[in-house]
Amino acid sequence: MSHILVTGGAGFIGANFVLAWLSDKSADGVINVDKLTYAGNRKTLASVDDDPRHVFSQTDICDRAALDELLTTYRPRAVLHFAAESHVDRSIHGPAEFIQTNIVGTFTLLEAVRAYWSGLEDVAKADFRFLHVSTDEVFGSLGPADHQFSETTPYAPNSPYSASKAASDHLVRAYHHTYGLPVLTTNCSNNYGPYHFPEKLIPLMITNALMGKPLPVYGDGQNVRDWLYVRDHCSAIREVLARGRPGETYNVGGWNEKTNLDVVHTLCDLLDQFKPKANGSYRDQITFVKDRPGHDRRYAIDARKLERELGWKPAETFESGLGKTVQWYLDNQPWVEDVMSGEYRNWVAKQYAA
Ligand code: NAD
Ligand code: DAU
Repeated sequence: MSHILVTGGAGFIGANFVLAWLSDKSADGVINVDKLTYAGNRKTLASVDDDPRHVFSQTDICDRAALDELLTTYRPRAVLHFAAESHVDRSIHGPAEFIQTNIVGTFTLLEAVRAYWSGLEDVAKADFRFLHVSTDEVFGSLGPADHQFSETTPYAPNSPYSASKAASDHLVRAYHHTYGLPVLTTNCSNNYGPYHFPEKLIPLMITNALMGKPLPVYGDGQNVRDWLYVRDHCSAIREVLARGRPGETYNVGGWNEKTNLDVVHTLCDLLDQFKPKANGSYRDQITFVKDRPGHDRRYAIDARKLERELGWKPAETFESGLGKTVQWYLDNQPWVEDVMSGEYRNWVAKQYAA
């Protein structure tokens, strides 16, 4: 059987990707390599536990020997690299893990892949792909009138998270230019959707609202993010993997710029509709809290290259995607309750103490 190897496939986007990939009965097998940090969750993958095409390995991408063994055993035709420490606020409290996984881990993975790829036969070598999943945060922060980030926007990362992702992007680029490794990089905007860990804005607001807790909006709530439904991100990655040009980078976005306050208002309105409170609106729970240090003001993606070259467009609007997301959280409370036990409580206590 032919395989792809996915890193971080028990996290939010990686797991959505694996589930969507395996829903195609003719698709290649998946070697799913994940350390299972606080953000990784085997329960998200429960529906593919019995699928013989899914092989899960609890492995750290910093473990070179383990990576070598997986690559030589399964001989994947592609590696898709999702694994990362991904939460900006956590990178402010403790950047070391971000340097370790996002930079050292990506470097270790690239070295293992380079050794494996160098030994492939000519055709397999030419067909092989290393797809690096990155973020729009590497481009820094936009002013209100600035053009969206394009693939040629200079890098200007502002948080330990985005700086570590920028470093990993540069390593990936260097492995193409120096060694000829057939790499593809995607830089995507903010994702939302099913299985999103409730420390990020949208799932945090939904879960806090349902528990009757405050909805903590940082600063003045006027920071802008460009939102994309996670399954649209996954379809973009499939397109880039299939038809992207090695060495190229592709920006992925949903053309959905919203202020944080607008997002929270829309979520409250959806919840008022789907699960009305006995008294008042969920909007009554909104609280303005201390701003994030170094908080980037605006992100926005120009995704025209992906549309022009590969014909990709998002399937969901912000309204349709957010409606599906709210409904998913209402329908999947056991998943939410499970991830909110344990380590999650420590994080909430530390981050929202004031
Ligand atoms: P996530 O935090 O939900 O999941 C990360 C996964 O990586 C987890 O399953 C975790 O266990 C695993 N992991 C962490 N360290 C590891 C290590 N050392 N070895 C092996 N596995 C490890 O992240 P996400 O939101 O799914 O993001 C996935 C990727 O997409 C990241 O590279 C992120 O930078 C990028 N990205 C995310 C967004 C977004 O909005 N969430 C947007 C653009 C790009
Ligand atoms: O842009 C892509 C990036 O999007 C990804 O690379 C990151 O992995 C992902 O986490 C996300 O980063 P953000 O920092 O934009 O996402 P987050 O959900 O943490 O915050 C979104 C916005 O909401 C941001 O402006 C901060 C604000 N916010 C967040 C939280 C958790 C609040 O106002 N209150 C909160 O409690």
